[in-house]
Order: sequence, then C-alpha cells, then structure tokens
Amino acid sequence: MSATDRREAAQPAPPCAMVIFGANGDLTKRLVVPALYNLSRSNLLPERFALIGVDHGDRSTETWKAALHDFLEQSVKSPDSEFEGKAIDADAWGRVANAMRYVKGDFLDPKLYAALGDVLQKLDAQEKLGGAVLFYLAVADRFFEPVAEQLGKAGLVRAEGAGWRRLIVEKPFGHSLQSAKALNAHLLQWLHEDQIYRIDHFLGKETVQNIMAFRFASGLFEPVWNRDRIDHVQITVAESIGVEKRGSFYEATGALRDMVPNHLFQLVAMTAMEPPVSFDADAVRSQKVDVFKATRAVGAHDAVRGQYGGGHIAGTAVNPYREEFRVAPDSDTETFVAMRLNIDNWRWAGVPFYLRTGKRMAKRTTEIAIRFKPAPIALFRGTGVDQMNADWLILQIQPDEGIRLRLNAKRPGPVVALESVAMDFKYADWFHRQPAVGYETLLYDCFMGDATLFQRADQVEAAWAVVQPLLDAWNSTVPSGFPNYNAGSDGPRSADELLARDGRTWRQIR
Ligand code: BG6
Repeated sequence: MSATDRREAAQPAPPCAMVIFGANGDLTKRLVVPALYNLSRSNLLPERFALIGVDHGDRSTETWKAALHDFLEQSVKSPDSEFEGKAIDADAWGRVANAMRYVKGDFLDPKLYAALGDVLQKLDAQEKLGGAVLFYLAVADRFFEPVAEQLGKAGLVRAEGAGWRRLIVEKPFGHSLQSAKALNAHLLQWLHEDQIYRIDHFLGKETVQNIMAFRFASGLFEPVWNRDRIDHVQITVAESIGVEKRGSFYEATGALRDMVPNHLFQLVAMTAMEPPVSFDADAVRSQKVDVFKATRAVGAHDAVRGQYGGGHIAGTAVNPYREEFRVAPDSDTETFVAMRLNIDNWRWAGVPFYLRTGKRMAKRTTEIAIRFKPAPIALFRGTGVDQMNADWLILQIQPDEGIRLRLNAKRPGPVVALESVAMDFKYADWFHRQPAVGYETLLYDCFMGDATLFQRADQVEAAWAVVQPLLDAWNSTVPSGFPNYNAGSDGPRSADELLARDGRTWRQIR
C-alpha cells in the first residue's frame, strides 16, 4: 500500500510484535512509548500487539510498565505538555500496557536471543501476530552491529515463511563515510535493505513532511523553484540549549557530525529534490540521493566552525562550552558550523545553499529561507525608492510552525515608499493540534512497511561523502580563537564573513 492510499484510510496497523532494545533508556521513555500511547489514542496501534522491552537492568514487566507510566503521567501533567487533556487516557494506555513484557538480558549474549525467540513464539501464538516483528535499536550505537548480528544468527530477522521482520536503527548512522559504509555493509549481511528503517527524527516533523505538499501539491511555487528565480537558500537550525549533560557524547561528535549530514541534509533534500514520479518509497528516496550526488564535497574553504563562550540566554547567564559537564577545559570541539553548499545540477547551479547550526544561539529556531531574485527597480527609479526589499519565503519548521511570504507593499500615504510585509500561515491557527512527540508517523510507517521517511543506505553514504573532506580538514587542524561566539548570539563573526564573500548576509536569529 502506498503512503497516499494508507493515509487516506488511516486504520490500525496490522498485528505484530515490537521489540525495543534499550527498554530502560531515555529514548524509549521520552519518545517511543509516548508515541505508541498517542497512536493508541488515535486507534492506529495494531489491535493485536506485543511490546517486548529488552535491557540488562533488573526489572519485572510490572516495574517496567510502572516506570513508563509514571514518566508519561509527569509529561502529561507538565505545563508545557504536548498532550491534551492533562490526564492519561486510561483505555489508550491500557492497550499499550497490556501488550508489554520485559525481558532481561545482555545485548551481547547469544542466550538472550534464544530466550527472545521463545518469548516471541509464545506471544505470536497467543496473540495471533502472524510472525510479524519490528525490532527497535534504541541503544548506544556501539550495539548496532552486535545486536543485528545476534538477531541474524538466531534467525530472528529471517522473514521467509514467517511474517515480516524489520529493524529500526537510530542515529548516529556512522561517524564518517567509512564507518557509515561499514555499518551498512554489516547490517546488510543479516538483513535486506528493505527490512532496515534508518530513522532521522527530523523527518518525523510535520513541517518537514509538509515541504513535499508545499512544493508539489500546488502549481504556484514549483515553476519558480529554480536558479532562474531563486537567489539563494538559507537553512538555519539554531538551538538555545547547550550540550546539557551530554558532554562526553558531544566531545566525540561536534556540531558537524551531530547535525549536518543528517538533520540539516534532510531539509536540504526536501527543498532541493526533483519531483518524484510517485510517493513510492524508492521513487522519493532516489530523488533525495540525487541531490547529494550532485552536491560538491565541502572543504574548509566553504565552511566555518565555532564554539560558544559564556553569555546570556533569555536574561540568564550561561557557562561557556569549556565549562560544561564532561567537557575538556581546552576542548576544540565545535558547537557551531556554517557552510556553503553548491548543488551542481540544472535546477540549482549557481544558487548557493547556506547552512548553519549551533548550540547556545540567541533563540531556538529552525527555518528554511528562500530568497528570490529582486524585481527590476526600473518602475520605481526616481520615486525615492533606491532599492527593492528582497522577497523571501520562509518555511518555519519549529517553533511557531508556519510559512511566511515576505513581499513589498506600498506604504499608505501620498509618497511612494515600499515596505516589506508578511503573509503568514500558522499551523496552530489552521489545524487542530494533535498531541505528538514526533515519532508517531515514523512508527506507524514502520508498522505499515512504508519506508518513504527513512534513509536508504545510499543516501546516508552520499551525505557523508559531501562532508567527509571537511571532517578530514578540521581533524587535522586546530581551530583558532575558540571560544569565538558568545552564548545568546547569532554565532561567530566568521560565519558572517562566509556570506559577505558572496555579498550576502544571514537572516537575523530573533
Ligand atoms: C539530535 C542531536 O539528533 O537532535 C541534538 O543529537 C539536537 O544535539 C537535536 O539537540 C535537535 O532536535 P530537535 O528535534 O530538538 O530540533
């Protein structure tokens, strides 16, 4: 069933078991189980379902359930809750809770997989699940390969004869082109590509999914969506949070690896891809891969890095990166990156895509800003108007989700004067807001076998190939002048210089 067919007919997913490795981890608690609960509220959870949590901690099914229930309850009650109603829907939770089983085991121990096989067989017969199983790797990435290997050796991911078997793999998908290729090769030893669902949670965001609708479901913008009418594109993923308690992860990762070949590139792909011939997963994903195949590899000349010093965010003083928990006092890890991408194809040749992302910036905002080429000044020459304001289209991904078009308007009065005004569409005003943590669609799609929103192996590798020269260059040189931007600012001056070279400026992060 294609994405369009099944979304029109949204109905409970087919019977299956779901096995979460990392049952006691943060991801399970904060995102996966709340998303299952939301699916249950919308009657989209499989009606016959088993949810098996695997982890090494000493827990019973009852204590596992209780821990997840308590966390969900706290989130529901919290004032900034995404959930409606401020109370857990007992029926919806009951459907999730009744499906739950906890299995204790060491991810590296073959005995765990034998035990898991028995549990799956029993639940399958009891609940009539047809042999379908979704495995979820909600574990540290060092476990991706061993768990896949053990599943393979135990025969648990062989679909033949049984129902379907699928595996969800979380970020990070490799740390470099080489390690991403090795991970793909390893997984493909045990599973077929169409069984592997590589999650990038940015594709779970409604506003990101909407880019396809915006571009391809109306005839207005697509004809101008090219180098004839677009001057350049700016993609900003600014965060006001710092690295929080993730210092040791971040020290080994940095902003470039953490955000660019994955999240920012998803936004690039959605913005730059050619129209696919259908919503078929491979048709869509092939167009995305082509974007990165056409993108020139980025070297140090086309990028800048930064690290935050101290400063103020929303009036509160915050520490410099080098004083964060588990961060080296002389750390050279970048917390900010900006780059210029050149997509060498007929649509985009000569239209730079400028990307920037950073921690501890002035404000949390994720946007794709498209700057159109200016109209000729001719008509207005001699009227006192000496320059046209640019026309911008801004896809506001988060927060304040919406789409804004900035155009010139005549300021009322006898004098000819132009002012940039905004036409605004806000999701919150138009659509009834559904409580969501952002994993609902992704999980539902896995249950349904729709891989459109998941990354294929070749996309992951093509994306790493674009940034690998930059990673190499930065690994072999010590950045100078770190920290080079204040917390609460728009990033380092060098980022402004990157655009100034092309006679352009960043939009303000405000
Ligand atoms: C994660 C990164 O993948 O994405 C984090 O590891 C980052 O460092 C997060 O904060 C951003 O996601 P979102 O959905 O909050 O924009």
